[in-house]
Amino acid sequence: MINKISHWEEQIDLLAQQDYVVIDNFLETGTLDQLVTFFNKKIAEDKLDKAAIGSSTDKKIIEEIRGDYTFWIDKQRDSDSLELFETFDEMKSLINRMFYLSLSDYEFHLALYPKGSFYKKHLDQFQGRNNRMISMIIYLNESWKEGDGGELKVYPKDRDDLIIAPLLNRCVMFRSDKLYHEVLTANCDRKSVTGWMLYQPSPLASIPGV
Ligand code: OGA
Ligand code: NI
Repeated sequence: MINKISHWEEQIDLLAQQDYVVIDNFLETGTLDQLVTFFNKKIAEDKLDKAAIGSSTDKKIIEEIRGDYTFWIDKQRDSDSLELFETFDEMKSLINRMFYLSLSDYEFHLALYPKGSFYKKHLDQFQGRNNRMISMIIYLNESWKEGDGGELKVYPKDRDDLIIAPLLNRCVMFRSDKLYHEVLTANCDRKSVTGWMLYQPSPLASIPGV
């Protein structure tokens, strides 16, 4: 569950105005603890895989763009151990209400950036994959400090670039199709859960009268 966030409307307005928003102290302690435990378990079980980009399977190309390891979370398989689905459901309905959108689903993965890794400047919508509407990241770095690296740098249009520290329980949301962003080189392991709110046009939408 998410913490009671005062001024939700303001946060979502910010997302609309500047294409991103940063919300600290996002998850309730219980949900956060559960997520950290889940993450550590997946690391111990060696379940994280080298991330891919689009359809590329060329390891060298991928290495030059992103160096993180990911574990895709599965609603059926993982819902017993994670309250996070409720959080994403809550966010989905909130965003739908505020933006008059009809987000239909979401997908998310755990991400581990080992020391020395980064993710070059990019958009989260790419060719052949344009149904990601809102990107949502929750950071899980308990003792992050200046010098640890792995900050998120965002490039909002017509505004100054901004560097965001990946602090524990900080949530960053942004427009997947609009906001260029990058992960600066991590100087020690950097953990997060990253999700995308998806838009699936209804197959009935184009039929007149439906
Ligand atoms: C991504 C991404 C940013 C972050 O996974 O597409 O840009 O701060 N992540 O983890
Ligand atoms: Ni991204």
